[in-house]
Amino acid sequence: MKSLLLVGLLFTSGAEARMPEPPRGLDLHMPLPEDNPVSREKVVLGRKLFFDKRLSRDGTLACATCHDPRRAFSDGRVVARGTGGAEGARNSPAIVNRGYGSAFFWDGRAPTLERQVLEPIFSQKELGLTRPELERRTGLGAAHVAAALASYVRTIHSGGSRFDRYLAGRRDALTETERQGLALFRGKGNCVSCHVGPNFTDEQFHNTGVAWRDGRYADDGRHAITQRAGDRGAFKTPTLREVARTAPYMHDGSLATLEDVVEFCSNGGRANPNLDAEIRRVNLTAEEKRAIVAFLQALTGSVREGWR
Ligand code: HEC
Ligand code: HEC
Repeated sequence: MKSLLLVGLLFTSGAEARMPEPPRGLDLHMPLPEDNPVSREKVVLGRKLFFDKRLSRDGTLACATCHDPRRAFSDGRVVARGTGGAEGARNSPAIVNRGYGSAFFWDGRAPTLERQVLEPIFSQKELGLTRPELERRTGLGAAHVAAALASYVRTIHSGGSRFDRYLAGRRDALTETERQGLALFRGKGNCVSCHVGPNFTDEQFHNTGVAWRDGRYADDGRHAITQRAGDRGAFKTPTLREVARTAPYMHDGSLATLEDVVEFCSNGGRANPNLDAEIRRVNLTAEEKRAIVAFLQALTGSVREGWR
């Protein structure tokens, strides 16, 4: 009994024991849910499902239509377009390093990836299947589909950017201008008060005024989930990894370029009753704005996905 226990411990203590051949994107610090441990089988199945158009009502779309690997898993559209051309209200976010996330969707309504991934399948504005239809087409239970898709999404990883090399001690990995941009990002620009940590997001919700149009909120954002008045118009801070490849920007795709975003932030967002205190007019000069954009472009790295 004792020795069995010991063997058990030996095999579960090191992460290598759980993952003899680690999937490309997963690292040992990624939090994994106890009820959905990662496995090669699930990742391989999840990857297949992600690219499978049978997951849409009319067979024209897959997850990958809106989350295109060539665009760091975003789609280049202002707002997403689902089956039958139905337009959603929000921009398809890049899905890199989302295994580190703690809330999903722009308003954070899904607490786990397992809960997140079924929503687009059942949404009439996205893939538009019913649960029985999903189960019939895949021959799998919906929970199995969710476990597999979530496992695959966890392997989608961006890293190895010039910024990462700089952090690892290669000072010359960033140009002079990009280093200035980094200093401004951390200092005068105050970007790090929200875009913080290895993925440049605090995983929190902030009102920067994007949704404020003609004296009202075009999208309530976080408020729809919490019902707190102050959350009206607040959205999740997006990751900035690969951001040069994921235009257009913001939850509604309303800003076309990185220059537009930096201009917007430099002006302190758009005034409205719930504007976050951390987004304020910082009056960057034209040269400083260019430096920040250059720095953001240095966050492009390589995106890996799937099991090796
Ligand atoms: C029609 C386009 C479309 C399709 C198809 C689609 N998505 Fe999305 N996806 C979006 C949009 C738009 C959002 C943001 C929606 C929101 O915030 O309300 C999103 C959000 C997400 C997020 C959350 C990312 C984050 O950082 O919060 C993940 C993960 C995701 N999708 C995975 C998937 C998977 C898996 C599939 C296939 C089952 C899929 N998507 C199908 C458009 C799409
Ligand atoms: C108060 C928190 C906060 C501060 C400060 C802040 N941001 Fe953001 N940023 C956000 C949020 C929240 C969004 C999404 C807003 C939305 O869609 O409504 C965002 C969106 C962005 C985007 C678009 C990313 C995408 O995928 O759509 C970029 C780029 C960006 N910010 C860069 C910056 C830069 C550069 C600065 C500093 C000059 C900055 N931000 C300051 C919270 C912040």
